[in-house]
Amino acid sequence: MQIKLNSPLDMHLHLRDNKMLETVAPLSSYSFAGAVIMPNLVPPITTIEALLEYKKRIIDSTCRDTFEPLMTLFFKDDYKYEFLKEAKKYIFALKLYPSGITTNSEGGVSSMDIESLRETFEAMSELGIPLLVHGETNGFVMDREREFGSVYEQFAKNFPKLKIVMEHITTKESVDLLDRFENLYATITLHHLYITLDDVAGGMLKPHLFCKPIAKRPEDREALLRVALSAHPKVMFGSDSAPHPVDKKESCGCAAGVFTAPIALQALSQLFEKHNSLDNLQAFVSQNAKKIYNLNPPKKEIILEKKPSIVPKSYGDVVPMFADKELSWSIKLVE
Ligand code: DOR
Ligand code: ZN
Repeated sequence: MQIKLNSPLDMHLHLRDNKMLETVAPLSSYSFAGAVIMPNLVPPITTIEALLEYKKRIIDSTCRDTFEPLMTLFFKDDYKYEFLKEAKKYIFALKLYPSGITTNSEGGVSSMDIESLRETFEAMSELGIPLLVHGETNGFVMDREREFGSVYEQFAKNFPKLKIVMEHITTKESVDLLDRFENLYATITLHHLYITLDDVAGGMLKPHLFCKPIAKRPEDREALLRVALSAHPKVMFGSDSAPHPVDKKESCGCAAGVFTAPIALQALSQLFEKHNSLDNLQAFVSQNAKKIYNLNPPKKEIILEKKPSIVPKSYGDVVPMFADKELSWSIKLVE
């Protein structure tokens, strides 16, 4: 059995910088036609100059593969209209992190008060710049995303022309929000379609499955699967592939992030086949994003075949999801 995917897109990707960038960028650029690149470097990407230099380093790391990095700026509530008007020429979106909520987000927004965000959100609405959001409060870890739901509602109601993407959703409540507000969209990761909190901490602790937002309950995963497998038109694949060196994961004080980029399409094929939904995979990994953002990614065809392969134990010093395990699908050809 084989399937062909046209121009798959990863709508949420961490590529990091320097040596890590060189290790991981080719693994995404091999099988994806483009990706939305997260700006949470140290320091975060907050200027056009830093963004353009980073974009160049990414392109230099992708082995001349056909791959379009869609760049994001780290959201600041003091960005003004004139700055955003200039930035719009180079950026795909702004990424908003609540301050301190996850890896390298200390410079994020400290209050979700609408008034303090209004000027920037209005400028974005007018300029047509999408807002990508890491939606978690600083409450109890299992409740953070659900508590953030009221913030999404406020944003969506007050800024109806702003395209708002709930990044890496993990709860059934977030899924429900999609159908309540026209301007709310979502990305879903591979790992949140596969795992629940039990897989992370139900037995021996699995540091390589620890991420933010933390994986939730079986009924939450069911809700995510329902919209992903049916390719609900407002959901897009965003891996949130977030590499950390092995010593930062297998340590006291484990960094959050699951590294999935090199196995994402194989594992998605396996999952969609298991649920008799292979026909919807193209929409989930490309078509929905193209429609939502009116994107025209570079042409790239990925042929996947049902042929078992063993996932490497590591890529450089990064351990991928399913390390040393068998996946039933492999990449046959990229052209
Ligand atoms: O698990 C995560 N890792 N979640 C995030 O939001 C950030 C990411 C990272 O940058 O490592
Ligand atoms: Zn992320």
